[in-house]
Amino acid sequence: FEVSWDAASAEKGGFPSFMEKEIHDQPAAVHDTLLGRSDPRGRLILDELRIDPAELKQVNKIIVLACGTAAYAGMVAKYAIENWCRIPTEVELAHEFRYRDPIVDKNTLVVSISQSGETMDTLMAVRYAREQGAKTVSICNTNGSTIPRESDAVLYTHAGPEIAVASTKAFLAQITAAYLLGLYLAQLRGNIFSGQIKDVLADLNKIPEKIQTVLDTTGPLRELARSMKDEKSVLFLGRNVGYPVALEGALKLKEIAYLHAEGFAAGELKHGPIALIDAGQPVFVVVPSPRGRDSLHSKVVSNIQEVRARGARTLVIAEEGDEAVREYAEHVVYVPETPPLLMPLLTTVPLQIFAAELAAAKGFDVDQPRNLAKSVTVE
Ligand code: G6P
Repeated sequence: FEVSWDAASAEKGGFPSFMEKEIHDQPAAVHDTLLGRSDPRGRLILDELRIDPAELKQVNKIIVLACGTAAYAGMVAKYAIENWCRIPTEVELAHEFRYRDPIVDKNTLVVSISQSGETMDTLMAVRYAREQGAKTVSICNTNGSTIPRESDAVLYTHAGPEIAVASTKAFLAQITAAYLLGLYLAQLRGNIFSGQIKDVLADLNKIPEKIQTVLDTTGPLRELARSMKDEKSVLFLGRNVGYPVALEGALKLKEIAYLHAEGFAAGELKHGPIALIDAGQPVFVVVPSPRGRDSLHSKVVSNIQEVRARGARTLVIAEEGDEAVREYAEHVVYVPETPPLLMPLLTTVPLQIFAAELAAAKGFDVDQPRNLAKSVTVE
């Protein structure tokens, strides 16, 4: 009798890959990132953010800098920060920022986002911004890494070590940290009522459990992914905070399944991408909450109809209770209800699972995709 023990599979916690393990770590990643950062009265406490509050009040522009998945977290941050703080916020790929003579001064807050804290493009952009006099905050998952050391302040994400090259739990933790930063700035500047901040924090605290619900019901989605292993291209549409989610869904497929995938802002469909649609083209649509403002929901439902009418296979991520999408969707993944701005913490998860399952079905090493590195420390 021999007990076979394999260190690698023990580290993966019984999952077939680090990526699957890390996808399942996400309730904890969000929970731990929220932990200890607010008091019971619903006030943000970000003592670690060692920038003089008086200086933070002077900030009149925010620039979020990052690369890859972290840049999509930055796009979500823009929607949240502008909504809560009313501070103009730009998101820029770090490698583009530095080479275009950007307008930065002492009233600019530069927020860098990096899992590793070692991405050279992001580091060089932060250095540059600092030289120009900007205040720099780093959202980072790696204690003591270079980018936080070279920034004025750091807000760590507590996702734990991420091993798989394709980022999953770090992404949700980055979005969570960005929400905390946005709420903190809003609190400091008195942009929104304390009651509102308390409500958002309460909703954030419910997210880990809701992610778990998504993780517990992935059977049909995994089956769909396996059935699609011979597809040549998959498109993703989203709007508002669903737009970066669509981009991230496409990036995951490129990275680990080597599959052509593109994400589009759903409103842009009619300006070009719709020409790509022909019979059988798979299109994922991230549908905004029907409870959101500005009738975005009905606009995106129209987009589903438009691609469906041209023969697309419509694969929909929608909020629980959204019956309007059923009629036009070949496949629907429902996620629990949550305020519209917080939806990315839920809608991203099915797209990660879809990519991981499809890549595994193709027989690829989902943890170590070809040509990619976990952390790119060269320019
Ligand atoms: C590499 C990784 C990506 C990651 C990006 C940014 O390209 O393959 O998964 O999103 O770097 O990494 P960072 O550590 O700065 O978040």
